[in-house]
Parts: sequence; C-alpha cells; structure tokens
Amino acid sequence: MSEALRVQLYFLVLILSALKGESRYLEDNEITPQGLFSLLHSEVKRELSKDFVYRRPLRCLDMLTMEGQFTFTAEHAQLNCAAYFIGEPNEVISIEYTAVDIDCRRGDFVKVFDGWFLKGEKFPSTQDHPVPLSERYVDYCETGTLRRVARSSQNVAMIFFRIHGAGSGFTVTVKKHINPFPCNIISQTREGSFTMVIPHQHTNCSFSIIYPVEIEIEELSLGRLDSNDAPVKRSIPGCGGAGDFVELLGGNGVDTSKMYPVADLCYSLNGPAQMKVGCDNTVMRMVSSGKFINRVAFQYRPLERRELQKIKGNNVEDFCFIE
Ligand SMILES: *[C@@H]1O[C@H](CO)[C@@H](O)[C@H](O)[C@H]1NC(C)=O
Repeated sequence: MSEALRVQLYFLVLILSALKGESRYLEDNEITPQGLFSLLHSEVKRELSKDFVYRRPLRCLDMLTMEGQFTFTAEHAQLNCAAYFIGEPNEVISIEYTAVDIDCRRGDFVKVFDGWFLKGEKFPSTQDHPVPLSERYVDYCETGTLRRVARSSQNVAMIFFRIHGAGSGFTVTVKKHINPFPCNIISQTREGSFTMVIPHQHTNCSFSIIYPVEIEIEELSLGRLDSNDAPVKRSIPGCGGAGDFVELLGGNGVDTSKMYPVADLCYSLNGPAQMKVGCDNTVMRMVSSGKFINRVAFQYRPLERRELQKIKGNNVEDFCFIE
C-alpha cells in the first residue's frame, strides 16, 4: 500500500468514526434547530462592562451567545451533552479549556467542533469548510494542554462532552473576535439584512436562516456584464455551469450540500427580487471562482403562519413549499 493511500485511508477511518460517534448521540438527543433556538430565547442578552467576566454554569444541552466563562459539573453520569455557541455574522469564536477535570481513560471527553452538528448534519458542510473535517475537532483527551484554545472559522462553534463521574467537569472561556470577511454564517435572528462579499477568492460562502422566511435580494453583483434577460433562472442547476452565481437553497437540515435549489441567480441584478421559502432552513449561497469581486445584499423576515398555510395550499407535493 502506498504511503499516500495509507494516509487517505487513515483519514477516512478517522472521519467515519468521528461522524458515527457524534451524529449518533446527537440524533439520540433529537435536537432540532427549532429546539435549539428556543433555548436561545431564554438567554437574556445584557450589555456588560469591559472588564466584567460573565460567568454561568453550563447545562448538558445549552446554547450561548455571550462571551464569558462557563462551567459544567456533572451531577451524575451525563453522556450525551452539547453546548452550541453563536456570535454575530461578523464574529468568530474562540473556546479555551480553562480548567478540565475529567477521566479520559474512563471514556470521558470534551471536544470543541468548528461549526454546528444538528440531527447528524453539519454546518458548514464539508465542501464549504476551509479545514478538513478531522481537523475541525479539538479533543481535550488527545491534545491535552498542547492546544488549549480552539478558534472557529465562522460565527458558530460547539462543544461535545461526555462525563461519567459526579462532580467531574470543566470550565471554558469563550471570546468573540471580529472577522473582516465572514464567509459561512448562521443567523442569530429570524429577521435582518446582510451583505455578503467575496473579494477575488475561489471559495463558496453560505448564509443560513433557520426559519421559513421571505428573502428579498436588494443587489447582486457578480463581477460580469449585466444582463436584462431572465435574471432569475429556476431549474438550471448552477446556472448551467457558469462560474460565479448565487443560489437560494431550502431544506430541513443544516448541511447545505443536502439542500434543494430554490433559485439560481446567474446575472447581476439591481432591482429587488423576492422569494418566500417555507423550509426550516433557508440558505443564500454564493459560488465564487476568484476572478471577480462578488457581492449580494439581502433582507429577510419570518413568514407568518397565514403565509405558510397559503404557500402550502398552492403546492401539493413540494418539499418545503416555495413561492
Ligand atoms: C464551489 O461550489 C461549486 C458548485 O457547488 C463547486 O463546483 C466548486 O468546486 C466549489 N468551490 C470550492 C472552492 O469549494
């Protein structure tokens, strides 16, 4: 067996075992995106002075938007725990293992993941993430004190943990840092606006809104000649192979590579274009060759129950009711 192949196989095994472990116990927990965001609403947002460190205990299933120091102490064996962190679109998150008292040999672990894992799916998808999947984990039991700080590539990160002994636990310090070129993003809110810019980079970026929304594109510039004919093309995947484009995706999970194309926008556009997407997750994804500066500005607002029902009424079989 050649060395290269051996390395590839090794990574494949690593990835498979990581996927199997993580997705299985998260599926057991059945954390839905909606369930997760309902945890967020119980979190009170506060303005804090600069040198005050916000501290609070971490729950076995938790969601946090704040910087601070968070401590988990097991009350009994707690084997399927996960804490989700989310920042503003232009922030990345660092998580530092400040104090850890767990028994790795007994099967305890604490792992930071660069992204989110929900119902067995991950965001950003493997295709869109700059780092290979196996390197997106920082496992305390493997790296110990060598790598105490993990930094996310986007505005979401999470910790998986499993602790057997009552009284064992850990403390993490969470900080947020400005990201001048945010690429993959999960929106903290159901309503808002965003401008995505990809400046001469061969990369793909996604903005994900975990709610059925109406999305209005204000401006789209794809760094090529404008065209007045049919700016919105449906059902030509990837604009027939054109290099740079924007796609609107809909689906019920968080992995963009498993979502359905709602519309592909292949040409620059000045006027507004609106679309209602009745899926649990709506994503604006920009595919960029690196030859141009691409830019899309959009607004979104949640669909009301009445609107959702109307859309459902019009479409009999559609996967998640698009208008
Ligand atoms: C971006 O996405 C397109 C289409 O989904 C794909 O063909 C291309 O390889 C991706 N580019 C990068 C850098 O991942």
